[in-house]
Amino acid sequence: MKEKRILLVIGGGIAAYKCLDLVRRLREESASVRAVMTRAATQFITPLSVGALTNEKVLTDLFDLDDEHEIGHIRLSREADLLIVAPATADLLAKMAGGHADDLASTVLMATNKPVLAAPAMNPRMWLNPATQRNVAQLKADGIRFVGPNTGEMAERDEAGPGRLAEVPEIIAAARKVLAEGGTVMPLRRPLTGRHVLVTSGPTHEPIDPVRYLANRSSGKQGHAIARAAAQLGARVTLITGPVALPDPPGAHVVRIATAEEMLRGVQQSLPADVAVFAAAVADWRPAAVPSEKIKKGSAKPALELVENPDILTAIAKEPAQRPALVIGFAAETDDVIAHATAKRKAKGADWIVANDVSPQSGVFGGDDNTVHLVTRSGVEDWPAMSKDAVAERLMLRAAEHLRKTTAAAE
Ligand code: CTP
Repeated sequence: MKEKRILLVIGGGIAAYKCLDLVRRLREESASVRAVMTRAATQFITPLSVGALTNEKVLTDLFDLDDEHEIGHIRLSREADLLIVAPATADLLAKMAGGHADDLASTVLMATNKPVLAAPAMNPRMWLNPATQRNVAQLKADGIRFVGPNTGEMAERDEAGPGRLAEVPEIIAAARKVLAEGGTVMPLRRPLTGRHVLVTSGPTHEPIDPVRYLANRSSGKQGHAIARAAAQLGARVTLITGPVALPDPPGAHVVRIATAEEMLRGVQQSLPADVAVFAAAVADWRPAAVPSEKIKKGSAKPALELVENPDILTAIAKEPAQRPALVIGFAAETDDVIAHATAKRKAKGADWIVANDVSPQSGVFGGDDNTVHLVTRSGVEDWPAMSKDAVAERLMLRAAEHLRKTTAAAE
C-alpha cells in the first residue's frame, strides 16, 4: 500500500465508526487517505475525528463551493489509486447502481475512472432484499469489487445474518488485491462479464533440431493487448501464446506453447469459448523430421524438408460442435491488404478479419501502433492509426456489442 492514495467514501450506517480504525490501519500501511462523507455518515461519526486521522480536510458536500473550487469532484476521484466505499449502505449501493450523482459521495463514484471496492454493511433483511441483491449484481457486472458483508450479530438486538461490515484486515487485504491486479484504469462498463474469450498470440517456434528452430518476427504485443482488454472488460480469458518477451496480462489464464501443433491442441482444450481471436503469427510450415541430435556441420548441405502446419483459425472456425459465436482472425499482409483479407475471411470461415499492413515500412512488427481495417460480412471499416492497446479495446468492445445483439436476437 506504500504511497497508494485511497479515497474513502463513508456511508451513513452504524458501522461507520469502524472507518476510524480503517483509516488508521491504511495509514500504518503508508497509504494516504482522503475521506468523503455522506450527510448521513456525519450523523454517526464526525468529520472532525475522520479528519484528525486522515490529516486531510474531510469533504462532505458537493455544493461546498470552496471545496469545489479547491479540488473539484473529478480531480478528487481521479487523483486516487483506489476508492473504498465503507460502509456501503443499501441506499449508497442503490445510488451507485442507478447512476445517481446528487451529493459529493455519489458524484465522485460516478466520475471516477479508478477501481472501486465496496464494503457493504446493513441490516440482514436489507441485504437480502431483492432490490439490494439486484443492485449488487449490477454493480458487480459494472466492475465494482466487493468485500463482505460478513454474517453475524447485528448492532440491533435479536438481529443476526449477513450484513456485518467486513473486518478492517479483510478490507485492507481486498484493497491490496485490487491494487495488485494492476487496475490503473477501471473501464466503467464490463460488457464481457460472463463471457469466455480465447486469444492466440506471439510466434510459433518450429524445431529443426534440438537447438535450432524456424520462427518469425511477431512480438505478441497485439494479441497480449487483446487478452488484457478482454479481461479488463470483464471476460474470463485464456491466452495461448508462443514464446514472447511480454508480461502475462493480468487476470488471464496463460497457456505457453512453442509449436503450431501445440497451439492447436491448447486452443481445442480451452473450448468452449464465446469469442476466439487468432492474433498469433503461426508458422505455416514446420520441418518434416526433427532429429534427436544436433545437426552437425559436414560436407553435405542439409536439405530442410517442410510440411504444412495445421491452420488453427480454420480448424476452429469450421469446428462443427464447439464453434465460438464470434471467430476473429488477423491478416498480416504486405500488399493488397483489403483484397487478401477479404479472401482470407471467406476461405478460413472467420466472422471478422482484422487486416493490417505489416510491410517493413509500416513499423507494425514489434511496434506499439497499428493501422487496421475490420473486414466483416457486411463490408470493410478503416480504423485510424492508434496504439495496439486502443485497437484491442475497440475490438473487444465491438465483440461485446456483437454478442449482446446476437444473444438478444436469440431470446
Ligand atoms: N493462422 C492460424 N494457423 C495457421 C496460420 C494462420 O490460426 N497455421 C491464423 C492467424 O492467427 C491469423 C490468420 O490465420 O488470424 C491469418 O494469418 P496469416 O499469416 O495472415 O495467413 P496465412 O494463412 O498464413 O496466409 P499467407 O501467409 O499465405 O498470407
